[in-house]
Amino acid sequence: MSSQESAAPQGSESNDPLAGVFLEDKNKFKTCSQIGFYRRQKLFRPDQSPYLAQLSTLKVEKGIVTFNIIHQETKVTLQVQVIAIEGKILRLKINDVLPLKHRFEVPDVLVKEPTTEWLNISQQETGSVVLECPSASSKVHITAQPFSILITQEGKALIGVNSQGLLYFDHLPSPPPRSELGEKDTEVPHHSSEDVFGLWKEEFENDLDINLNGLSVGLDFTLHGFEYVYGLPEHADTHQLKTTGENEAYRLYNLDVFGYPIYDKMGIYGSVPLLLAHKPLHTCGIFWLNASDTLVEIHSKADLQSHLRTAAPDIRKLRAVPNVDVRWMSESGIVDVFLLLGPTPLDVFKQYVQLTGSQTFPPRFSLGYHQCRWNYEDEADVEAVDSGFDEHNIPYDVIWLDIEHTDGKRYFTWDQERFPNPVKMQEKLREKRRKLVVISDPHIKVDPNYILYTEAKEKEYFVKDRNGRDYEGSCWPGVSNYLDFTNPDAREWYSSQFSLDKYKNSTDILFVWNDMNEPAVFKSPEGTMPKHAVHHQGWKHRDVHNLYGFYQQMSTSEGLIRRSGGKERPFVLTRSFFAGSQRYGAVWTGDNKAEWGYLKISVPMLLTLSVTGISFCGADVGGFVGDPDPELIVRWYQAGSFQPFFRGHAMQDTKRREPWLFGDDNCRLIRRAIEERYTLLPYWYMLFYRTHLFAEPVMRPLWVEFPKCPDAFEVENQYMLGNALLVAPVLDPGVTSIDVFFPGPGEYWYNYRKYKRVKGSQRQKVDVTLEEIPVYQRGGSIISLHSVTGKSTGWMDGSPYRLQVALDNKGSAVGELYIDDGHSLKYLHEHMFSYRRFTFARNVLYSRSADNLGRYPVDSILEKVHVMGIKRSPTEVTVHSTGGERRKVNFSYNKGLCFLCLENLSLGVCSDWEIHIA
Ligand code: GLC
Repeated sequence: MSSQESAAPQGSESNDPLAGVFLEDKNKFKTCSQIGFYRRQKLFRPDQSPYLAQLSTLKVEKGIVTFNIIHQETKVTLQVQVIAIEGKILRLKINDVLPLKHRFEVPDVLVKEPTTEWLNISQQETGSVVLECPSASSKVHITAQPFSILITQEGKALIGVNSQGLLYFDHLPSPPPRSELGEKDTEVPHHSSEDVFGLWKEEFENDLDINLNGLSVGLDFTLHGFEYVYGLPEHADTHQLKTTGENEAYRLYNLDVFGYPIYDKMGIYGSVPLLLAHKPLHTCGIFWLNASDTLVEIHSKADLQSHLRTAAPDIRKLRAVPNVDVRWMSESGIVDVFLLLGPTPLDVFKQYVQLTGSQTFPPRFSLGYHQCRWNYEDEADVEAVDSGFDEHNIPYDVIWLDIEHTDGKRYFTWDQERFPNPVKMQEKLREKRRKLVVISDPHIKVDPNYILYTEAKEKEYFVKDRNGRDYEGSCWPGVSNYLDFTNPDAREWYSSQFSLDKYKNSTDILFVWNDMNEPAVFKSPEGTMPKHAVHHQGWKHRDVHNLYGFYQQMSTSEGLIRRSGGKERPFVLTRSFFAGSQRYGAVWTGDNKAEWGYLKISVPMLLTLSVTGISFCGADVGGFVGDPDPELIVRWYQAGSFQPFFRGHAMQDTKRREPWLFGDDNCRLIRRAIEERYTLLPYWYMLFYRTHLFAEPVMRPLWVEFPKCPDAFEVENQYMLGNALLVAPVLDPGVTSIDVFFPGPGEYWYNYRKYKRVKGSQRQKVDVTLEEIPVYQRGGSIISLHSVTGKSTGWMDGSPYRLQVALDNKGSAVGELYIDDGHSLKYLHEHMFSYRRFTFARNVLYSRSADNLGRYPVDSILEKVHVMGIKRSPTEVTVHSTGGERRKVNFSYNKGLCFLCLENLSLGVCSDWEIHIA
């Protein structure tokens, strides 16, 4: 692809809709200083807050505390609400008291109006008030002048709000006259000065965006005693958030950035405005519910508690505590922020999921391997690729069709020459128990003969431009209109398009991929819709921008559920997302490149998504842009096999890269990586059930599992899968060994495949070959695996199981297994599941139910049990089944490895039994 130098200027005349689309040019995107609201807010200096809290207005109604704050120069009054929410969450809302124009409040992201809890006034003096929130064991100290809030827990400062005085609220009317801004309309000739000129308009590329109704908001937070902060996807950057430099911020603005630069804070496809802060005994979070263009500055510093500022220098140094200051700035909306008080990482995940919903429980097939390419050309190509997997004995579950399968990029249609018989093609896949995923983008080709277009136009379901006409942009089909997914009627209509009778030649094995939904608009400023476009109820695109993809995936996922009469679980992949998108399916990290740097950065990018609620995430295996060499592709399959969403994908102009095209040996290695995924499916499925139910991320950074272990806080090249597996992918070419960090004092780690034990709390150089990547099982865990693999997950229904038991330093272990039909919603509505717990203690392995409500009949067999860490050879091993039956079991024991192997067990994997090791 072209370099920055060769990039054609934006807006250059060309009739080709794709001209300039594939240029990697960072200059296509705004820097902070090209963003008007950033410039306005940056005029504000810290420690000079003009806001004064009028504590005489403070009232408590139904536990909600309300008071006014006044801007001492402009006299504009704002209302502050402090709300305690069950589960140790505090919500802070700041809005106009007398709005001249209503501000946008984000709908549909919170799963329900949160349940409030009691807040009492515990102390009231002139100039300050202390509120007590018994359920969160915290206090809220409000200071009047200047207005600030401090949240304390057990007498210790936790989070300061406006402690730097950066609360910002654009007050109407204040901008200079339009004539000065370069627009003819002379309305609002209010005030003008040299200084403010340029703060209310943005001229970027060929677009002039005048935001006379500037409604930007901002606020700062101090995280006391914290040094480590994470979250805020999506950026192609480190997992740990870094101090931002001069005129630099993490941007949350959903943008289509082809071949995005890595280690960069620019906004890419999706946004979750959730920041997590962690220190050894506390984790907390800030969830900033705002869907407009948002910039976040981060400053870490060692600070002095105020009473120490005057102490002798050596004492000051000793007592300096780390602090992180976080400044949020958004282009519009209100301040609506949730402080998640933790205290553990898991508590914060639960608090966040309580607000925005949990990861949808995916159909089991979607945890298998997905084969994608732009494009599989026609039915014969699909058939050849599909049988190629069988010929090479490689399991896979889903083949994908990109935009070329449609009739001229008219979604919900088929190219009749390439795909004359889509139903037959799907039936062939069904016979192999495989699925099809097709793409459905949000732009609709302007074509009076295209029924989707004419219907949407007639029903007024398109976004409008500022002149009230349907907004026209260019995308894959050429001139297009964009569905307004913020309109509930449009969403409902779009959902209905997926019904089997409407979507011609679709079947119930067809699932969906939503792409270009930032939304992407070619040859438009920043490759997206102008901020002045107009949505349902007159809201500007600037207000709702980051919600666009969220709504499309919501609507698609509801469409698939409805198509099945409310019976089946949907699968929808989206590129763009927002807080809450986890409720609707999976997310992938867009157009990465076939380069080692992109393989490496996939790990922190996915870890960040995972801790912000989006467990079902993945990166294009092999890299989308360019051609991977054999070593890179093998390493990428090995890494991808241990990442939640596992899909190989490639761009149109790349060489074909089905696994068998890399030579026999590389094909064998890729097969091996994919087979490992299929072997481990029972564990993956259980992890997804647990993330759905208990909000535990599937892929976890080490700090989540080892929250008291500072050495783990910066690790981002290895991670935990659930609480049992430590994965250390090989992320560099040509290496023969890698450094692995084994966390946790007192922990045991066992080589996942070869059973050798390593003690925790150390780093070790581990030899690697191209065969596999290092994976370790944590002592104290039991994982369930399949003992054989099949063509696809569907083929593995009912196939035998193996338990892998890794003993901790007390000789104990525990683990779970979850089984259901793999596709329906009966697990939810009819308790059709079987949820089991295995416990190993005092040389007995017990199988018991983990949830007695489950009533799904399972006749699969537990064939083998492997136990790691058994110190001596047993004299006898017996199985005790319910009903009193006892029988001896054959075993083998490896003394060097302390490894016990039980085979031919023939036990019901979901029955109650005990295995006694004497
Ligand atoms: C976008 C997607 C990519 C897809 C292509 C064509 O670039 O990110 O995955 O293949 O569009 O639809």
